[in-house]
Amino acid sequence: MVFIKLSLIRLILCSLLSLHYSHLFTFSSFAFAAITANEVAENQEMEASESALLEWRESLDNQSQASLSSWTSGVSPCRWKGIVCDESISVTAINVTNLGLQGTLHTLNFSSFPKLLTLDISHNSFSGTIPQQIANLSSVSQLIMSANNFSGPIPISMMKLASLSILNLEYNKLSGSIPEEIGELQNLKSLILQWNQLSGTIPPTIGRLSNLVRVDLTENSISGTIPTSITNLTNLELLQFSNNRLSGSIPSSIGDLVNLTVFEIDDNRISGSIPSNIGNLTKLVSMVIAINMISGSIPTSIGNLVNLQFFVLYENNISGVIPSTFGNLTNLEVFSVFNNKLEGRLTPALNNITNLNIFRPAINSFTGPLPQQICLGGLLESFTAESNYFTGPVPKSLKNCSRLYRLKLNENQLTGNISDVFGVYPELDYVDLSSNNFYGHISPNWAKCPNLTSLKMSNNNLSGGIPPELGQAPNLRVLVLSSNHLTGKFPKELGNLTALLELSIGDNELSGNIPAEIAAWSGITRLELAANNLGGPVPKQVGELRKLLYLNLSKNEFTESIPSEFSQLQSLQDLDLSCNLLNGEIPAALASMQRLETLNLSHNNLSGAIPDFQNSLLNVDISNNQLEGSIPSIPAFLNASFDALKNNKGLCGKASSLVPCHTPPHDKMKRNVIMLALLLSFGALFLLLLVVGISLCIYYRRATKAKKEEDKEEKSQDHYSLWIYDGKIEYKDIIEATEGFDDKYLVGEGGTASVYKAKLPAGQIVAVKKLHAAPNEETPDSKAFSTEVKALAEIKHRNIVKSLGYCLHPRFSFLIYEFLEGGSLDKVLTDDTRATMFDWERRVKVVKGVASALYHMHHGCFPPIVHRDISSKNVLIDLDYEAHISDFGTAKILNPDSQNITAFAGTYGYSAPG
Ligand SMILES: *[C@@H]1O[C@H](CO)[C@@H](O)[C@H](O)[C@H]1NC(C)=O
Ligand SMILES: *[C@@H]1O[C@H](CO)[C@@H](O)[C@H](O)[C@H]1NC(C)=O
Ligand SMILES: *[C@@H]1O[C@H](CO)[C@@H](O)[C@H](O)[C@H]1NC(C)=O
Ligand SMILES: *[C@@H]1O[C@H](CO)[C@@H](O)[C@H](O)[C@H]1NC(C)=O
Ligand SMILES: *[C@@H]1O[C@H](CO)[C@@H](O)[C@H](O)[C@H]1NC(C)=O
Ligand SMILES: *[C@@H]1O[C@H](CO)[C@@H](O)[C@H](O)[C@H]1NC(C)=O
Ligand SMILES: *[C@@H]1O[C@H](CO)[C@@H](O)[C@H](O)[C@H]1NC(C)=O
Repeated sequence: MVFIKLSLIRLILCSLLSLHYSHLFTFSSFAFAAITANEVAENQEMEASESALLEWRESLDNQSQASLSSWTSGVSPCRWKGIVCDESISVTAINVTNLGLQGTLHTLNFSSFPKLLTLDISHNSFSGTIPQQIANLSSVSQLIMSANNFSGPIPISMMKLASLSILNLEYNKLSGSIPEEIGELQNLKSLILQWNQLSGTIPPTIGRLSNLVRVDLTENSISGTIPTSITNLTNLELLQFSNNRLSGSIPSSIGDLVNLTVFEIDDNRISGSIPSNIGNLTKLVSMVIAINMISGSIPTSIGNLVNLQFFVLYENNISGVIPSTFGNLTNLEVFSVFNNKLEGRLTPALNNITNLNIFRPAINSFTGPLPQQICLGGLLESFTAESNYFTGPVPKSLKNCSRLYRLKLNENQLTGNISDVFGVYPELDYVDLSSNNFYGHISPNWAKCPNLTSLKMSNNNLSGGIPPELGQAPNLRVLVLSSNHLTGKFPKELGNLTALLELSIGDNELSGNIPAEIAAWSGITRLELAANNLGGPVPKQVGELRKLLYLNLSKNEFTESIPSEFSQLQSLQDLDLSCNLLNGEIPAALASMQRLETLNLSHNNLSGAIPDFQNSLLNVDISNNQLEGSIPSIPAFLNASFDALKNNKGLCGKASSLVPCHTPPHDKMKRNVIMLALLLSFGALFLLLLVVGISLCIYYRRATKAKKEEDKEEKSQDHYSLWIYDGKIEYKDIIEATEGFDDKYLVGEGGTASVYKAKLPAGQIVAVKKLHAAPNEETPDSKAFSTEVKALAEIKHRNIVKSLGYCLHPRFSFLIYEFLEGGSLDKVLTDDTRATMFDWERRVKVVKGVASALYHMHHGCFPPIVHRDISSKNVLIDLDYEAHISDFGTAKILNPDSQNITAFAGTYGYSAPG
């Protein structure tokens, strides 16, 4: 080789030199002259390379020039930084990787490097397009230009670099499509174009690159299908097409790529099914086909892929079962199939895999038990099986699964006592066991997981208390234990959870106060304590939770007034204090919360005027309080429904269900006259009995007025969920007396409620009218129930059934009244024997009684009450044939300031006129 080169140069040189020196030629002198001549030529090449490099350096910015300070004309380029020469002193490599260089390639004369094998300018800040002239690097084998800012297309001229073996242009901003001429790079082994902005399709000519070992087109915008020709590339080891817009299906001849180790086509639009010959790819280590539209089932031949470590299929439409051949995949580390349509039992073969690190069968339709030995090798870090139909217990092997980082078993049908199935996990971050059938206690061990940030166990049957130890979990941010049967006090130790963002413990049976220690939750955004038996005043420390967005204390027994410190909750969007025993006025603090959108204060004892809300409120419910005066003139109030404002003391304003606040006296008088006329005409029907009525009424009016004062005081303490009767009877007494409303105590049943006969511990017999619907559901039935409670609380009369108490509880709502042995009037009238016994004298007595009661309701009470459904069904008879009006579900408490034109209510044919 050297000889041939020398002789060629000699020929040229001889012709130049022979004129002057031919007579001096000896063999040695000839050789000397020849080498000298050679050096001259090489010097010329080197000079060209040198000046090309210097010129290029000159075009770069100052900092780049400083990085290349060794590039000076006094020193041989072979000794410059990043320059490599061969023995014949030609530049064979330019490697200036990661030198912070900035500039373009347009100032580099490529033709000055005829022997260059390697150009590595990666990890710099070169920009501009790749010049067509790069094709002048005729010998180049490695072109590495990755991690720069090159833009524009891949030059077609580059496809003439016949020696090119490695083309690495990853991490640039190249656009356009991959040239069809790529097929000419017959020596190409590695084509790495990932993380650019390439579009167009993959040219089928790629199938001619028979030496290709690695092709990486990840994260571009390449569309079209995966060309079938690619399966000609039997040397291919890595095929990476992830994050593009590829469509069509996986080539059916994929099984030909027998040397493939990495097959990654995730995040495309690939459809069709997984070819069963995939089982021929026995060297496959990574199979990542997630986030596509692949359907069909997992071929059983998958069991041949004994080297498989990554089986990643999530977010496709894959159906069918997991083949039992999975037992062969003993090297499996990642099994991720979430969000598919897989079903059936998980093969027990999964119990044999010891390297498992990630196991994600989540969001499918799997049934049957979880693999009990899933953490056999102790390497499991992520186990997410949520949203399936798994049954049976938590896998035993989880107890000692010390690397566990994430555990999601929520939304399944798992069972068992979980008091003691979990261990202590140093790396555990996230646990969700919600919505299963777990029972037992919450283990204090969770607090020993130092990195635990989320613990969710809602919607199970857990009992016992919240372990105070949980307060020691240093990083706990989310604690969700709602909808269980947790009892006991709210542990003040939870105040130590200074990182807390969310606490949801609603719908349990917790009691006691909210401890002042909660003030330490300075970052909390969501606090949900609804539907428990918590009581006492709402602590003013709640006002210190300034990041709160959502606060729900509803359906508890909180007393006293709403703390004015609420004014500090300036982020709060949703506040629910409904169904408590709160009294006093609505503090102006609430009106000053600028972000508040939803406010529910209903079913309390709040009184006085409503402060002037100016904020962004969208929804409001202030019903069932003692509020009065004008409503604020903001849409939330003005557009509020009747139900959201009803049952207050006297509200007025521009809402459709209210009267205007400043009615001219003329109108008001006119209306009063109409009302009086109505009532009088109604009363006239019973004119004969008026005298009796008046005398009775005077008596009862006095008696009830005194009683009412008493009741009012008691009620303000005990209005919701428990008792007025003797102050002593408790919810549980009624439950016990009726054995939880057992049918054997049932004495009557209607569309909305059932009536039970109950014997209380002290011996009294009472009737318990239990509503079918829960009171918190805003059904017409529950509305009727509240009306009845309210009406009966207002009136006391010998001929009106005596209310002994009521209960509005999330589980059961009921009303207790005296039990009348005689039953209802309609029963008496329809029973032949009883009807005969029911002689005229007795009938008159009943009529008198009813009239007296009605008179009392209309005139003796303030505000007046209209029953609106007097019928024989609603008149009860005692053993002395004394009438007692009952069923006040459709009654209306007349607001003397309102028009009271409402929809029809009552039994047709019986209801009062007007
Ligand atoms: C260029 O040099 C770096 C070290 O400076 C080396 O890691 C890299 O492999 C070289 N590039 C080539 C293509 O040899
Ligand atoms: C792939 O190989 C087959 C023969 O095995 C040949 O017929 C076909 O032309 C090749 N495709 C390409 C694109 O080279
Ligand atoms: C697979 O690769 C091996 C070397 O790793 C090579 O010897 C063999 O020829 C390749 N197989 C095919 C079908 O090209
Ligand atoms: C490839 O897979 C198919 C179908 O699974 C099978 O019939 C064929 O024998 C396999 N080829 C090789 C070389 O293993
Ligand atoms: C894979 O498993 C099946 C059945 O479970 C078995 O018949 C087959 O021989 C196994 N293949 C390998 C390579 O172990
Ligand atoms: C689990 O492995 C054992 C031995 O390693 C083998 O006998 C058993 O058949 C395997 N079970 C399954 C379901 O593959
Ligand atoms: C806990 O988390 C921190 C940071 O989040 C991490 O540095 C540390 O290694 C973790 N501890 C353990 C035991 O994993």
